[in-house]
Amino acid sequence: MNTSSSTSAIVEQKYDDTSTKISSLRNRIIGFSDWLKPLTESKSTPSKVLDLRCTTEQEKRQLRSSSFIPVEYLKERSFELPARHVEFTILVSENDLDKVESLLCGSKNGRQKPWKVAHVLLDTEDFWNEASQNSGMVIVQRQQQQQQQQQQQDKLDNESSIIINNNTSGQRLWQPDPMVENILFPLLVKAKNNDKNNNRIMSSSSSSSNSSEIWDLASGSGRDIAFLAEELYTTNPNTDYKLIAIDHRYNAKETKIVNDFFGRRGVGNQTSSIKLNLSNWTTLEQAMSSSLLNSYVAAMFCVRFWKLELVEAIANSQSISSGVLFGLSHFCKPTEGAPWNFDHPSEKTVLERDQLFNLFQAQWDIVHNEIALDSDHGRMMIHFIARRR
Ligand SMILES: C[S@@+](CC[C@H](N)C(=O)[O-])C[C@H]1O[C@@H](n2cnc3c(N)ncnc32)[C@H](O)[C@@H]1O
Repeated sequence: MNTSSSTSAIVEQKYDDTSTKISSLRNRIIGFSDWLKPLTESKSTPSKVLDLRCTTEQEKRQLRSSSFIPVEYLKERSFELPARHVEFTILVSENDLDKVESLLCGSKNGRQKPWKVAHVLLDTEDFWNEASQNSGMVIVQRQQQQQQQQQQQDKLDNESSIIINNNTSGQRLWQPDPMVENILFPLLVKAKNNDKNNNRIMSSSSSSSNSSEIWDLASGSGRDIAFLAEELYTTNPNTDYKLIAIDHRYNAKETKIVNDFFGRRGVGNQTSSIKLNLSNWTTLEQAMSSSLLNSYVAAMFCVRFWKLELVEAIANSQSISSGVLFGLSHFCKPTEGAPWNFDHPSEKTVLERDQLFNLFQAQWDIVHNEIALDSDHGRMMIHFIARRR
């Protein structure tokens, strides 16, 4: 096993190189103990591991706390990868190295940055022997479980494999939007706690048994919905939030991708996806009229999606009840009329600093209105939340 201590230096040098030259993943191969070094030297935690081996190998044995994407699904599930500026380690079979290299590092047209694969762990017996000597904390042995499965009848085998599959989501590698994570999520937790306290002093007949809906308008791959569902239910397993992903791209294929993702994250029952064109409010209002009429809606939000007509109509809508939260995270100039010096997105899709404040102030309380930088390109974003009066 190549455990060269100069690996990090090599990697840094390669990342500094902004040309299209791509360093080979083979140069980044390290052994288990080198990967663990930050922990053993008490400096920091080792970089997160993305396990790209096939499902059969993953079921045999795994590194604790790693995330899994079988290599054959890597392209389809690339939205689950970390942001392109975040370092991570991959665990991979040597046979798949070239394929993985072209998927993670091989942007031939140079338009997309490669993902930041800091280190490569190779799926070899040496690797697992070394790993299993580390006080068991990093290894989950599945061999015994598998041997038992082989001895069981077909029906039982099937049930066991379902259990294994449900457990393969692993830790989250992608980051949710910071507005969703740091501002909206705590407000939703707090709103539910307030509801609980209010319900305690109201008669039980007046408390609603229906769930509160959260709509992600133009949810794309559904990462923010998955994050909210996971975290809201971790914070309170009895919470009744229902998370709804809405996007016009959800044809049958995309719907399957997004619903499978929710299923793998263990939040299939708390989430759903709807195909809808969000160009104007009337379409949304009609599609979701029963939720609006019955006041089930707790919050709606848009991340990196901006349609003036839609947001204007939301701000002025009479069908949105008091207390509903509206959140938006989008590219925004830091001051009124400031220049926009980035190629992407184009200036005409970028918000003016006070645009949302001016739209919402008449009928909504402004809860949060802040300019932040996006983590990878340093572009300005607005994190905005208002509550209907
Ligand atoms: C930049 S992506 C953002 C996705 C997601 N919110 C995120 O931050 O990862 C914009 C999304 O808006 C969706 N979209 C664009 N126009 C739309 C429309 N008129 N109606 C519904 N969805 C739309 C696209 O399909 C895409 O998923």
